[in-house]
Amino acid sequence: MTQAIRFYETGGPEVLRLENVAVGDPGPGQARVRHSYIALNFIDVYFRSGRYPLALPNGLGSDAVGVVEAVGTGVTDIRVGDRVGYLIGPQGAYAQARVMPAEVLIPLPDGISDRTAATLMMKGMTAQYLFRQVYPLQGGETILYHAAAGGVGLIACQWARAMGVNMIGTVSTDEKAELARANGCAHTIVTSRESIVERVKEITAGKGVPVVYDSVGKDTLMDSLDCLQPRGSLVSNGTSSGSVVVDSSLLAAKGSIWMTRPAMMHYIQPRSHMLEMAAELFEHVLAGRIVSEPQQEFALAEAAQAHRALEARKTVGATVLVP
Ligand SMILES: NC(=O)c1ccc[n+]([C@@H]2O[C@H](COP(=O)([O-])OP(=O)(O)OC[C@H]3O[C@@H](n4cnc5c(N)ncnc54)[C@H](OP(=O)(O)O)[C@@H]3O)[C@@H](O)[C@H]2O)c1
Repeated sequence: MTQAIRFYETGGPEVLRLENVAVGDPGPGQARVRHSYIALNFIDVYFRSGRYPLALPNGLGSDAVGVVEAVGTGVTDIRVGDRVGYLIGPQGAYAQARVMPAEVLIPLPDGISDRTAATLMMKGMTAQYLFRQVYPLQGGETILYHAAAGGVGLIACQWARAMGVNMIGTVSTDEKAELARANGCAHTIVTSRESIVERVKEITAGKGVPVVYDSVGKDTLMDSLDCLQPRGSLVSNGTSSGSVVVDSSLLAAKGSIWMTRPAMMHYIQPRSHMLEMAAELFEHVLAGRIVSEPQQEFALAEAAQAHRALEARKTVGATVLVP
């Protein structure tokens, strides 16, 4: 038996229950992973609250690192004892151990600790696909990035600096602004006391930016559109404040804007591509261009508290659960 978080109904953090569950042996194509760290992501809130549908009861989480304890038949590129991480696959990462499809497991390099890797799987890979695939940055651009001190945000700040990109990041407090700047964000906008549009116009001498990466959604949509240059790109990559509904005529009125709502699963296939994405991320980390550690740690049993902190905007950077 092992401990895992499960939920029987959607709702607030209180629906999360710690239970004893049987893990079992891996079947064909599967591996059993004993977790060292489990990463918390905002998408976990969407599943828990019911914004993203899930058959219930279910486990939660899709992002963890650990060691392979057993493999099933037909698994050739993952071995017992390998240190691995993952960011896709069935929900249920909030657990001490679990069985996973081996094809989603990413071997971890020796020079990257489990603790660091737990901040990289979903969050670092998100920065990779946003900056290198969805709207590929060349270096030298000035961009607007919302929630710059968040889990994905702090890695994005460092990735932007490494590429020579001038990032304008939004944050809600002065403490978060300081942290974003320390991680490479060139300019910060403190949304509790500054106008996003006015500050972006000021920083860009009235020109606006060619791209906005907007994970906040409902609350920032109009500001994001108003910060874009004509024919600019709105990458709507999250909805932390609520869903986004856009009439296409608004995109025309705001300057023939290109808008996309990217999802990781469409940028991470096939496995060989996922491993290339991870290799690029790991190279930045091994070279010291991206330094990433969890900023908050909770016990697995405290998953509900971790969710409360994330939703209340009390966290910075990455948050992990320790099984
Ligand atoms: N499309 C994809 O494939 C993909 C993949 C990974 C993540 N994401 C998205 O990227 C975003 C960041 O994920 P994360 O896990 O790293 O979370 P996070 O950025 O650590 O946390 C969310 C942050 O958003 C800001 N925020 C603004 N309005 C908010 C509101 N009403 N409620 C809560 N937070 C609000 C807060 O920062 P301030 O206090 O500084 O405003 C908060 O700290 C999420 O929207 C997530 O869904 C998308």
